[in-house]
Amino acid sequence: MIRTTAFAVFMAASFSASASEEAKAKVDLAKAKQIAETVCVACHSADGNSPAPANPNLAGQIPEYLHKQLANFKSVDGKPPVRNSAIMGGMAAMLGDDDVKSMSAYFAQQKLKPAAAADEKLVAEGRKLWRMGDFDKGVPACAGCHGATGSGLPAQYPRLSGQHAEYTESQLLKFRSEERANDPDKMMRAIAAKLSDRQMKAVAEYAASLR
Ligand code: HEC
Ligand code: HEC
Repeated sequence: MIRTTAFAVFMAASFSASASEEAKAKVDLAKAKQIAETVCVACHSADGNSPAPANPNLAGQIPEYLHKQLANFKSVDGKPPVRNSAIMGGMAAMLGDDDVKSMSAYFAQQKLKPAAAADEKLVAEGRKLWRMGDFDKGVPACAGCHGATGSGLPAQYPRLSGQHAEYTESQLLKFRSEERANDPDKMMRAIAAKLSDRQMKAVAEYAASLR
């Protein structure tokens, strides 16, 4: 009982410290580069252009979005993280507030080497969904929030252009199953719930082809 109380006080103190520290956090690009070259490199490459299509490209992503994701991978107040990933949970736990801010700024500044789409038929289907949505199912156009060319809209809406199709599809599946639950106002969960597997594949392929 005493231990629980002490723990709760400790958590409350460290949480408020981290909230005010986040605002004060300083960007150190040299340190970020070093972390990228020694840790993130294994899966995202040091320049944020991930060689394996299951791992997202981070290069050229909107910095506020990267920052939010790294925060969302962490568990807060002992609750399960709102973006659940065993791999990234471990990574994010090692990063302090300064590091999170620095890593986000660093990867946002790298030049994206966009992924390529492989299937033209899927691209054509995906283009339609991207631009017009699916009226019958009540799915809005992706372009409305992620931009006509998929470059995203700062600060809330991530870039999807040139992203690996396999990664994009995996996130749509995770929004649909609610395994990923960090989208504000359930924006993406509501959309993914209405998409078929085929539509997810198609729109992911189209996003990879966008420049
Ligand atoms: C062992 C492989 C691995 C390492 C090392 C790794 N990541 Fe990741 N990262 C992943 C995977 C896999 C995902 C996708 C997680 C999911 O499915 O939600 C991811 C996702 C991310 C995302 C979310 C991107 C988005 O578009 O939403 C960020 C940000 C990120 N990683 C940053 C980092 C940083 C910074 C480092 C180094 C400190 C790092 N990662 C190290 C595998 C890794
Ligand atoms: C109403 C606005 C809105 C619309 C329309 C929308 N999105 Fe999103 N989307 C978001 C927001 C906000 C996020 C960021 C969630 C977060 O903070 O993690 C997001 C995130 C995503 C991600 C995760 C990206 C990553 O790097 O992990 C994917 C994939 C995605 N959207 C695909 C789509 C597709 C495909 C469509 C069209 C079928 C679409 N979105 C339509 C608001 C929208």
